[in-house]
Amino acid sequence: MRILVVGSGGREHALTRALNTSSRTDALYAAPGNPGTARHASNIGIASDDIDGLIEFAREDDIDLTVVGPEQPLVDGIVDAFQEEGLSIVGPTAAAAQLEGSKAFADQFMARHDVPTAEFKVFEADEYDAASDYLDEVGAPIVVKADGLAAGKGAYVCSTLDEAHEALDEIVQDRAFGDAGDQVVVEEKMDGEEVSIFALTDGTHYVLLTPSQDHKPIGEGGTGPNTGGMGAFSPAPIVNGDLLNRVCREIIEPTLLGMQEEGTPYQGVLYCGLMITDEGPKVVEFNCRLGDPEAQVVLPLVESDLVDVFESVADGTLETGSLRASSRAAACVVLASDGYPIEYETGFEIIGIDEAEALSEVSVLHAGTRLREDGVLVTDGGRVLGVTALGDDLPEALERAYDGTDRVHFDGNTVRTDIGEKGLKHLSEA
Ligand code: AMP
Ligand code: GLY
Repeated sequence: MRILVVGSGGREHALTRALNTSSRTDALYAAPGNPGTARHASNIGIASDDIDGLIEFAREDDIDLTVVGPEQPLVDGIVDAFQEEGLSIVGPTAAAAQLEGSKAFADQFMARHDVPTAEFKVFEADEYDAASDYLDEVGAPIVVKADGLAAGKGAYVCSTLDEAHEALDEIVQDRAFGDAGDQVVVEEKMDGEEVSIFALTDGTHYVLLTPSQDHKPIGEGGTGPNTGGMGAFSPAPIVNGDLLNRVCREIIEPTLLGMQEEGTPYQGVLYCGLMITDEGPKVVEFNCRLGDPEAQVVLPLVESDLVDVFESVADGTLETGSLRASSRAAACVVLASDGYPIEYETGFEIIGIDEAEALSEVSVLHAGTRLREDGVLVTDGGRVLGVTALGDDLPEALERAYDGTDRVHFDGNTVRTDIGEKGLKHLSEA
């Protein structure tokens, strides 16, 4: 098989690394990739949103299967465009990717199909007064969201009414997210712990990757602004068998069935961002792709041949329950640039990756790095690296990941020291 991975972050490094272990992979490409993907794949200089360029490459280089990492090309219709050309690709069509691309669509879809989520109301941008009155009527705490893709920054969890009105003003009046703010979604604030559960589906059948947990805020203890994710671990001890059954029955199955009934069957990765509330699991968000950094911890636990799994997702021959996963644990600690997620500098030399990887079962995955002209590896983004480790259990995986983290250095290196603590807490209560 000749396989193309689209994207350039830590998730795509994890994907190329995992796909490269399959005996079925004859050639592997990453577009555009990064210095980490270059260890497992040939990077090609085509941007992940250049759909025409990617199709041309896939045709000319006889690509058998394309796997898409990030959401933007999926929402833009990369899957529709590849399928029109008869090219095999893993991911939802633009219509199905609306589950991530439009929060109003997702909430209204869940209401139509009785999928548990927050109470919500949708307003058009020209219904500012009605939205403002609704905020006053419901009161704080309350959540205000821009409808469309906003690079993870479009959701405001507001503890006061003043914050909620400011959020509404930013989205509707200041157009902080452009067209993504053409609609505003106001949601009830749910309480509980967040879990990421990924289903790989061919539209009808699905398999689950091991549940994971992300750490979105930049600061220790979950404080400060939200980031793309500062670390992850899998499995998530909070998700026991009963809970997982409820997620399948109450969330995943009605969602896949509902998408079929509405004529937009969902193929690819269905990312269920869940809140485990006192009333049970509820959907915080759907995404149409693997999470980052969650991919870094769930993919190394897959024991089935990932090429087989992706191929059957793309061609509609997946068998429910057919994925084999390790019973071990994985943890990932993200090394970010000082100032991320607001303002940060890049271009700092990175050292110590080899020492970290000399440790038992530690890998360093690249997110925002680049090779300078003189061949030196430097920082090139907010999230720079993810130190990922396997262990027999969560404490061992975390210890190894943090040992690895200690070996890697660059100016302004910022790390949360409490990754995995929420998982350890559930283990000690069990
Ligand atoms: P989203 O952009 O919808 O993924 O939201 C980003 C983050 O905001 C989520 O990961 C949650 O931490 C938080 N959030 C979003 N919606 C809600 C909600 N209705 N209740 C509580 N927290 C929420
Ligand atoms: N780690 C959160 C996300 O990928 O959206």
